[in-house]
Amino acid sequence: MDRAGENDQRLFSPEEQEVLEEIILHRRDVRGNHFTGEAVPDEALDKILSAALHAPSVGFSQPWEFVIIKDRETKEAIKKSFKHENEKAAALFNDDKQQEYIRLKLEGITEAPLNIAVFYTPSKEPVLGQTSMPEVGRYSVTCAIQNMWLMARSLNIGMGWVSILDPEEVKRILQAPQENELIGYLCFGYTDMFYSQPELELRKWDKRKLRGQVVINEKYTKD
Ligand SMILES: Cc1cc2nc3c(=O)[nH]c(=O)nc-3n(C[C@H](O)[C@H](O)[C@H](O)COP(=O)(O)O)c2cc1C
Repeated sequence: MDRAGENDQRLFSPEEQEVLEEIILHRRDVRGNHFTGEAVPDEALDKILSAALHAPSVGFSQPWEFVIIKDRETKEAIKKSFKHENEKAAALFNDDKQQEYIRLKLEGITEAPLNIAVFYTPSKEPVLGQTSMPEVGRYSVTCAIQNMWLMARSLNIGMGWVSILDPEEVKRILQAPQENELIGYLCFGYTDMFYSQPELELRKWDKRKLRGQVVINEKYTKD
C-alpha cells in the first residue's frame, strides 16, 4: 500500500470500482459463533494495520494506538468485563426486547484468534482542524477502524466491534496510559460464513433505513 509520488496518476477502472463497492456491501460484523479459530497470518495483520495507518486524520494528527492481543488470559479478562456490562445492558430493555437481547451473541472475544484494542491518544498541543470540534480526533480513529474492517473483509477475514465493555477496565487490563481513550475493541478471524445482511436485520432487531428517510435535499423543511 505504500506509494510515494507528488502527483498520483492512478485512475481506477469500473471493475476496480466494483470491487470496492462489493467489499463495502459484503462487510459484516462477525460475532463469536462464526469464528473458526484459524490463526490470522502475520501478512494479513500487516495489511490490516497498514490500512489503519493510511486512514485520514484531522490535521494529519494520527491520534491512534493499536494493541494486538492474542493471549488467552487477556482475552478472558476482557470477556469478563463484557459479561458484566452485558448483564447491565440487558436490564435496560423491556419485556420482549429484553428476551431478544439476551438471545443475541454480541461479541467474539475469546473465539477470535486476534483482538485489537484501538485507542485515541489526545494531543497536548492544538491540532490543526480540531480547534472548534474537539471530537474530530476521535472520529479520525473510527476512520482507521473502518479501513481495518474493509481490508479484513477483502482478505476474507471477519471483524466484530465490541463496545459493551467498561473502557476503564479494558485500560487497566492492557496497562494503557491514563490519557488514552478506548475507541474500539475489535475481534478478527476467519469465519465459517458471512451473513448476507446485518445479523440484527435478519433477527428483526431493526430495519435498514431507506434513502428517503435519511437524505435531505438542500435544507430541512420546517413543519
Ligand atoms: C461503533 C460500533 C460499535 C459496535 N458495537 C457492537 C457490539 O458491542 N456488539 C455487537 O454485536 N456489534 C457491535 N457493532 C456492530 C453493529 O451491530 C453492526 O455494525 C450493525 O448491526 C450492522 O451490521 P453489519 O455491520 O453486519 O452490517 C458495533 C458497530 C459499531 C459501528
